[in-house]
Amino acid sequence: MYDFKPAAPLSAAELYRELLGAADALTAGEPDGVANMANVAALLWEFLPDLNWAGFYRVAPAKTGNGEEELVLGPFVGRPACIRIPFGTGVCGTAAKSRATQLVADVHAFPGHIACDAASQSELVVPVLRDGALVAVIDLDSPRPERFTEEDATGIEALAALLSDRI
Ligand code: SME
Repeated sequence: MYDFKPAAPLSAAELYRELLGAADALTAGEPDGVANMANVAALLWEFLPDLNWAGFYRVAPAKTGNGEEELVLGPFVGRPACIRIPFGTGVCGTAAKSRATQLVADVHAFPGHIACDAASQSELVVPVLRDGALVAVIDLDSPRPERFTEEDATGIEALAALLSDRI
């Protein structure tokens, strides 16, 4: 049994150091990307306070079969969520299209935000790249406005780099 959970209140830097260590330990040597994403979603949920959704959207062929790609729901913790998101739509689709982290203090002010859970107030979405190609995004939602900071963005970007060839 794993007991990966911060033992005491930690600074953001310490929290992300522990989170990355736990993610590394859980995913090292495991080639199954779904298992790794599932465990990392659970870790994010355990480590980070004030979340109502934590998980992955993966890059996959569009359902229409038009040869394009879109985001498809991956392992997560939280309420059931929208399954497919076109590149360029909402916070996740914007992160996917731009390949840039989206730190959104108020989701209601974000054009095209997709409200999977009406409780969500702020959001952080970080692209996961492998050899320069987008493979997934990590999505965190919070019921608290302005929940995410630059330290969270930096920490989740480090997690995305760690997972690059493990999901
Ligand atoms: N709010 C996201 C959609 C995904 S859910 O938050 C899980 C967005 O606007 O892309």
